[in-house]
Amino acid sequence: MMKKKIIVANWKMNYDLHETTFFLRNFLKYIKEKKICHNKEIIIAPSFPFLHISNQISQGTLLKIAAQNIFFKDKGSFTGEISASMLKSIGIDIVIIGHSERRKFFLEDENSLLKKLKIAIKHKIKVIFCIGETYEDRNKNNQYSIIEKQLNNTIFHCSPNEIKLIYIAYEPIWAIGTGVTATIDQITKMHYFIRNIFYEKYGNTISSKISILYGGSINHLNAKNIIYSNNVDGGLIGNSSLNLEQFVKIVQY
Ligand code: 13P
Repeated sequence: MMKKKIIVANWKMNYDLHETTFFLRNFLKYIKEKKICHNKEIIIAPSFPFLHISNQISQGTLLKIAAQNIFFKDKGSFTGEISASMLKSIGIDIVIIGHSERRKFFLEDENSLLKKLKIAIKHKIKVIFCIGETYEDRNKNNQYSIIEKQLNNTIFHCSPNEIKLIYIAYEPIWAIGTGVTATIDQITKMHYFIRNIFYEKYGNTISSKISILYGGSINHLNAKNIIYSNNVDGGLIGNSSLNLEQFVKIVQY
């Protein structure tokens, strides 16, 4: 059976309450009218304050709502942080972890990412885990060793059962928000590499089932080619997911 393609919109720090609800209502109206998306898993990750209302708006539809971050402790004196049980209490059971912007601006290291991963899984929250190399890494042809290291320090500390709750998002840092998309050749080679190390660590069933998404300057013009490439199970989309018309086109492919 063909795997469902997974399209994830990462809205980052964009859209206020009005913009969020306006987008979601119109998006849902559109996909209902056109009867599209039944062959896809569509996930949108708005900002924290709007997760609850977003989840209410999308109840009973095929749209799922995800958080963009989580903290690695269950509760306590951690000003400004959001716990797994808080997310669960408003019906959120998907989270993005390890995005390169969190690694860069909030200095999240692999040790804390592993803790975030583990606490999300403990609470049965599905994780979209981001990995990716810098421009310098790729220029030096180090991209494969960097990706392997990122996986070794985080995901590969998970048991086969835990892996079932994880999607991998390969997002080369040089392609994020730059308009420079990785080529299909670069994407398929890296996705093949990732799937293959899952095969070596966990065997055939897990490596064939694990979903590997690509992210980095996907738009309505290049989405179809990327999403339907070998070993690509979907896309993680930033800028283009903020444009209703473009995002509707992307989910229609
Ligand atoms: P862009 O689609 O804007 O390049 O962002 C990708 C991304 O970071 C998604 O998480």
